[in-house]
Amino acid sequence: MKKILVIGSSNIDVSIRAESIPKAGETVKGVSVSLNAGGKGANQAVACSRLGGMTGFVTVLGTEGGESLLSLFRESGIDCRGITVLDGKQTGTAYITVDNNGKNTIVVIPGTNYDCTSEYIKSNDQLLQEADIIILQLEIPEEAVDWAIRRGSELGKTIILNPAPAPDSLNPEWLSRIDYLTPNETELERISGLPVSSAEEAAAAARSLIAKGVKNIIATLGGSGALLVSSALTEQFTPPDIKVVDTTAAGDTFNGAFAVYLAEGRSIADAIRFANAAATLSVSRKGAQSSIPTRKETEDFIVALAEEIS
Ligand code: RIB
Repeated sequence: MKKILVIGSSNIDVSIRAESIPKAGETVKGVSVSLNAGGKGANQAVACSRLGGMTGFVTVLGTEGGESLLSLFRESGIDCRGITVLDGKQTGTAYITVDNNGKNTIVVIPGTNYDCTSEYIKSNDQLLQEADIIILQLEIPEEAVDWAIRRGSELGKTIILNPAPAPDSLNPEWLSRIDYLTPNETELERISGLPVSSAEEAAAAARSLIAKGVKNIIATLGGSGALLVSSALTEQFTPPDIKVVDTTAAGDTFNGAFAVYLAEGRSIADAIRFANAAATLSVSRKGAQSSIPTRKETEDFIVALAEEIS
């Protein structure tokens, strides 16, 4: 099986549930607060491993909480050679508010995620060489992502960039080096500079990026599923219906699941269907890494859905 390397952030998530997300100047009463393992990079690495992928992870943790996160990564079966715990430094922290509809807002304090620099990634070059697929997000310094994309594409690796959190623009030199760009609606809108309020607009925005050299765009459109756009086709994959509890890490679960099927040599369409199913299960559960389903749960869910239809 091909190897997946995730390079990115790890956070401790402080998740608050409230009936509604407060607007500027508003105070609302919360329902509960919990601490969860999160971070876009970590969530994607855990998703890859839990869903059956041979997964390595490059990340930097701080003293507070760092050792417990590292233990969780080890228990998840992740290759942890690329993980460092820095003494006396603060692990990344995310403050998440989730409303009654499962929608969220997130504020991230980067902490040691900003120690995951290009120099640090260079010191893990062996892991990049061993990998077949490299997954990146944007919660570590941009210069580090820049290095990883250039080095990864130079080594002929498949590059997946999940452009989250939404950047103002994407470095134009990355575009032709990315094999799969996986934005959500907000990210696609920012990167393309075009409105994305419908699947048609998302397709037009994605095509504008294909024209600039990206090979495949897989836009995640929440309840409307995923939209695949390449130079040859545009196809929408609707997700199964489920009661939404918490959308935190749905995109991360999608990216991890997609990479796992890709690593197994499945078609892009099958990989998107698998990713849709895994992400759907994740929104029916609370938290980030705690919400990511196993391989068996996901495949059983797909079988159950197929039986429902027939
Ligand atoms: O994508 C969800 C993640 O975003 C959370 O786990 C939080 O840590 C932020 O990084």
